[in-house]
Amino acid sequence: MNKLILVTGGTGYIGSHTVVELMNNGFDVVIIDNLSNSEKSVLDGISEITGRRPYFEQFDICDKEKLDNFFKIYKKLDAIIHFAAYKAVGESIEKPLMYYQNNLTTLTNLLECMVNYKIPNFVFSSSATVYGQPDELPVTEKASFKPADSPYGNTKQIAEDIIRDTVKVNPDLNAISLRYFNPIGAHSSALIGELPRGVPNNLVPFITQTAIGIRDELKVFGDDYNTSDGSAVRDYINVVDLAKAHVVSIKRMIENKIKANLEVFNLGTGKGSSVLEIVNAFDKVTGEKLNYKIVDRRSGDVESVYADTKYANEELGWKARIGLEETLLSAWNWEKYIRNRK
Ligand code: UD1
Repeated sequence: MNKLILVTGGTGYIGSHTVVELMNNGFDVVIIDNLSNSEKSVLDGISEITGRRPYFEQFDICDKEKLDNFFKIYKKLDAIIHFAAYKAVGESIEKPLMYYQNNLTTLTNLLECMVNYKIPNFVFSSSATVYGQPDELPVTEKASFKPADSPYGNTKQIAEDIIRDTVKVNPDLNAISLRYFNPIGAHSSALIGELPRGVPNNLVPFITQTAIGIRDELKVFGDDYNTSDGSAVRDYINVVDLAKAHVVSIKRMIENKIKANLEVFNLGTGKGSSVLEIVNAFDKVTGEKLNYKIVDRRSGDVESVYADTKYANEELGWKARIGLEETLLSAWNWEKYIRNRK
């Protein structure tokens, strides 16, 4: 019998790509998503790519009663991957309670059910945002947390503490926290990808929307950083590579290869790219000439952050493989696909 994995937030951006990789690796998947930031049609994309349809339950994990009923039905889960959370930094500053309530209640509800129903394995969707501006680059998993710049970032830090404290007193519970750098791109089929609601906050969706004519111009936030060209540097990682790390993590737990109750891995490429480098690479692979202008820095942005990937490469046995140009092209193909579809 196939192993059954619960993916919360499985119709979202990273969630949907992870569901595809799980199913391609012979896992069965049940998704819980309240569709607050995703669309049910994502299930069609997943089915078209994999030839199978994941189970789907639409409800909010904050609703404890519904969650408990879910676990009464899906008793034999082998693992849970938890993506369902709010993720917009600016919105979290405006609505801190909404962020703390949602991101922490979903987590504590799930962990409580895992203990009650003896579900052994948990993968958490964390973020490199926990490092802030690290003292040393590339940043290793050992780097200490910096005071969070936003309630969103704080929820990721607190979540990791909650998981650490929970596994400590529940030795049968294993957890892996994956700290994502900057996930970009889309599945090579262009059948699933990122679906930002409203004006995108993140760089690459803003670029593709500008190139396709929905936005007038990209604003490059700052050219006075202490970097090669003055624009800020990030570690952009292909979302499919990122999704694959979740499959490796699940297998690691199921095969009992973990070395501690809670393990933490950076998911990045190890290579930093500046905003202007991304713009130039996008122009090169798409043949477009992106309209952009330099504006002031965005408040809360760090100058430069990229991953030390040694631990993930050696211990997890996972490495990002897809190059930046191929990744930007996949983002562009996805943008064209969704605009043609509408
Ligand atoms: C942001 C969040 C981070 C979160 C991640 C999730 C902030 C401060 N950080 O990361 O906590 O985990 O998204 O995806 O929001 N840029 C522009 N013009 C734009 C948009 C972005 O120049 O219109 C620049 C930014 O200044 C930054 C880089 O592009 O230097 C990447 O920005 P973005 O995609 O928003 O990611 P992060 O800020 O790194």
